[in-house]
Amino acid sequence: TTPHLYIARTLTDVAMASLADVGLPVVTGDEAPPERDRLLHDVAGAAAAVVTLTERVDAEFFDAAGPQLRVVANVAVGYDNIDVAEAARRGVVVTNTPGVLDDATADHTFAMILAVTRRVVEADRFVRSGEPWIWGPRMLVGLDLSAGATLGIVGLGRIGRAVARRAQAFSMTVLAHDPHYAPGDKVDGVTIASLDDLLATSDVVSLHVPLMEATRHLIDEAALARMKPTAYLINAARGGIVDESALIPALRDGRLGGAALDTFEGEPKVNPELATLENVVLQPHIASAGGRTRDRMCLLALDNVRDVLTGREARTAVIPR
Ligand code: GLV
Ligand code: GLV
Repeated sequence: TTPHLYIARTLTDVAMASLADVGLPVVTGDEAPPERDRLLHDVAGAAAAVVTLTERVDAEFFDAAGPQLRVVANVAVGYDNIDVAEAARRGVVVTNTPGVLDDATADHTFAMILAVTRRVVEADRFVRSGEPWIWGPRMLVGLDLSAGATLGIVGLGRIGRAVARRAQAFSMTVLAHDPHYAPGDKVDGVTIASLDDLLATSDVVSLHVPLMEATRHLIDEAALARMKPTAYLINAARGGIVDESALIPALRDGRLGGAALDTFEGEPKVNPELATLENVVLQPHIASAGGRTRDRMCLLALDNVRDVLTGREARTAVIPR
């Protein structure tokens, strides 16, 4: 049989329409993630696979696919769902979607920063509760971002820099920690700091690193203890970067001002205790969910597939770490 293009989940309409000219049979999953058995069945014999962060791509996946598999295109910039070393051993190209989602992700990160510091979601819950209220000078008071608040960005990559630009427009002082720069360096008006200094001086700490060995539980009990008791933690990166079992008591006991989380350690499960905390904003991993951005992510994944199948260099191949 002719090797096919396997697409694990229904992509955006624009991307699905672009498949007309792809030149090989296409097997597409549903909008929901495929069950593991179905995934392994449908990828068997594929020349190319388009997956999302809900699909684990490991030795079992490659065994099921077979040796004719040439490329796995992830519809995400993060690729911690893929065993890239295993892919490299088997000569399979892995691609991701850097660049096209920076602004959407930074926009949503800023929405989360504003939501948690100015208590937008808590205030909405309050109004909906029907409890009588009237304006008061002490009601639902939050943090003034524009009065010299400091934002600490962990990971000054494309997304981190896009968040920095927004923070600068709010007149915030912006610090960043990134292993590519040395403390004291200035990058686009952002002051590079050690992680310890950033944690100790920031009013808002926002995470923009990929999840990998070096960043798993980067924000652990000790890191949280370094933060100001009034500070806010924002995570629109990956749940595993934060030790939730340390975060939850810190939030509950007033050792941290609040948190806005778009990703979770046990995703899609959310620790039920998080949902009981007023000072937490919870989002279902939607930071890149702009309509145009999602089209661009899906189209970039398909362009990578076309690149590899026509013998070209994939335009955004992942370099194995
Ligand atoms: C989404 O989380 C992505 O990595 O693109
Ligand atoms: C992510 O943080 C990136 O560097 O694009």
